[in-house]
Amino acid sequence: MMRKPILLLDSGVGGLSVLRAVAARLPEWPLVYCADSAGYPYGTKAEAHVSARVAGLLGRLTERLDPAIAIIACNTASTIALGHVRPVLAVPVVGTVPAIKPAAERSRSRVIGVLGTEATVRQAYVDDLSARFAADCLVLRHGSAALVDAAEQTLRGKSPDPQIFRDAIAGLTGQPGGERLDTIVLACTHFPLVADALAAACPWPIAFVDGADGIARRAAYLLAALDGERASGAAANRAIFTGGLEGLAPLRPALKAFGLDSVESL
Ligand code: DGL
Repeated sequence: MMRKPILLLDSGVGGLSVLRAVAARLPEWPLVYCADSAGYPYGTKAEAHVSARVAGLLGRLTERLDPAIAIIACNTASTIALGHVRPVLAVPVVGTVPAIKPAAERSRSRVIGVLGTEATVRQAYVDDLSARFAADCLVLRHGSAALVDAAEQTLRGKSPDPQIFRDAIAGLTGQPGGERLDTIVLACTHFPLVADALAAACPWPIAFVDGADGIARRAAYLLAALDGERASGAAANRAIFTGGLEGLAPLRPALKAFGLDSVESL
């Protein structure tokens, strides 16, 4: 008997940074990665739009795929819509929210940055995490849509303008107090995919923290309770794109590198 899949959802390729951690921790579980390419990007859109879109899409996907759990592998969608979708979906939902707690735990200077989308950095969810876990830190925030696009381009084999990475870092270090910044939360799942380029753009050594491992641990915990079935053979992972398959050729090598050989359209 095959296990039910783990469903991961993002607006684009960003959630692959979460898929990587989930696949490493739970190699025996089949993964279905959904990129809402027809709705990309989320980070520049209004809350009501993102919330309705994510709720609708997760409803369709869970009905069609009958997953064991769903992971919203997107900070924007999670900080906006997690509260709305959890009560209405029949499966457990794991969200991706800014890793402010681990960042505050490791910061020595007590100045941390939250680098996300414009939508994520303005969410009350970030105020709440900062108050709960980083009350003694200065928490700087910066949103960058250009950086999300740069990650999409990088995975398509292109080399984005290095100024995009410098501008993103300067958006934090240039703020009052930013000269003491020692830790940045990568609060958009696209950003760990370009961590090397971001590190190269830092004017001094700055640590990056993201939530992917924490999400994989949470998924493993939830699945341990459900795991009555034995998997038969290796599970084939697959990707679903909502915006059609046209123009996806440049992305196929990266998808393959993440173990996603099969790509379908919704
Ligand atoms: N990957 C998404 C996140 O974690 C957002 C990208 C977008 O703007 O669609 O926030």
